[in-house]
Amino acid sequence: MDRKTFLKNSSLALGLTLPYPILSWGNNNMDDIKQQLAKLNPDSESYWAYISSLFDKQTKFINLENGYFSPQPMSTLAYHTSKETEINKKISWFMRKEQEQEIENARLNLAAFLGQSPEEVAITRNTTESLNTVISGYPWKKGDEVIIGNQDYGSMVAAFQQQVKRSGIVVKIAQLPLQPKNDEEVIDAYMSLVNAKTKVIHLTHLINLTGHIIPAEKIIDLAHQKQIEVMVDAAHSVAHVSMGNLVHKADYFAASLHKWLCCPIGVGVLKVKLTHIEKIFPLMADSDWPINNIRKFEHQGTRPINSLQTIPVAIQFHQAIGDVNKEQRLKSLKANWYFKLDPNSSKLQLNTPFDENRSGAIANFGIKGMEPDALADLLFERYSIYTVAINHPHVKGVRITPHLYNSIKEIDALSNAIKELSA
Ligand SMILES: Cc1ncc(COP(=O)(O)O)c(C=O)c1O
Repeated sequence: MDRKTFLKNSSLALGLTLPYPILSWGNNNMDDIKQQLAKLNPDSESYWAYISSLFDKQTKFINLENGYFSPQPMSTLAYHTSKETEINKKISWFMRKEQEQEIENARLNLAAFLGQSPEEVAITRNTTESLNTVISGYPWKKGDEVIIGNQDYGSMVAAFQQQVKRSGIVVKIAQLPLQPKNDEEVIDAYMSLVNAKTKVIHLTHLINLTGHIIPAEKIIDLAHQKQIEVMVDAAHSVAHVSMGNLVHKADYFAASLHKWLCCPIGVGVLKVKLTHIEKIFPLMADSDWPINNIRKFEHQGTRPINSLQTIPVAIQFHQAIGDVNKEQRLKSLKANWYFKLDPNSSKLQLNTPFDENRSGAIANFGIKGMEPDALADLLFERYSIYTVAINHPHVKGVRITPHLYNSIKEIDALSNAIKELSA
């Protein structure tokens, strides 16, 4: 059966009622987890100690570098592994007879989680692939202008620079403040660069270097008034911070699900507004789908479908904790060290907005006169705290990214280290 006939006969035609089932459960113990959580109070440390116990952690050092990707909780990992074992037995039977339905099931669950139509949601490998698809597949004309941010992720900047060479577009760079006084300061950084040639604005919703969350929805509203399309890099936003109507409003929205959703490595999402799908060329040529079908962006060849099958299970784990509880916990881990620093210190460089509404778990600090790499090395060698040095033209410091499994005790260890190092 080809893909189109399959879809006509099965999940897409039938599957538009919620909730979408996980097609086969394997050994997931989500019911046990939910029962335990129901007995605990999310305002208590015992709730979070229980969550922490669901992760298989190394104990050699304190890991405060969870921005690269998240660990899967043991239940999700067990499910992921069980699906790999199953595929390894079924081999090409699975690929020919079952994978389509599994992918569609993952899409339906993911689209419902993001509050979008499944016809606008493609499952990719990561944010890099999602945004490269859009940036390299966009029908640019010579002289089209694009506005990006001075703290955008390097791969996206490179993708636009490639289009400067290939298509003759012009890239303008918004200068974002590290400590904005208000939304307008950030909005103006972008909107003051708009002119009649501006085709696209590219926004990083949550800047990976500093954790800064920008007022992306407001910028999208203003851009749309001028018929400018907006691409959103939300690599760090999904399952981390509240996004309001961001996914819906963005013309193009990309995220990595192996970050805060705790999916296996190599699962990402690309949302493209239905009306835009036709004009974007896929990264890998496709002849299976009509050019206005979102599935044309998923032409990756043979890939680990067990990672996609795990998406609904990762969503269930996230939802067992709840968006609000998770965001509050992550923010409080940050607040317990970052907002305790002296904003007027002559020794410290505070690179994250000192405003609780403008960041999530991530924050970045530096010590004046100390190179970022030297600071990260000291934190590791002297205090066994693993972080990552950020040595960027606009941001110099170390990025601290706690996760659900980190304890307040570990955060206190960081606070003490900073106190000693900046004394
Ligand atoms: C803001 C931002 N965009 C894009 C990416 C790329 O993510 P991935 O490597 O999952 O494609 C990252 C990775 O950390 C990021 O922080």
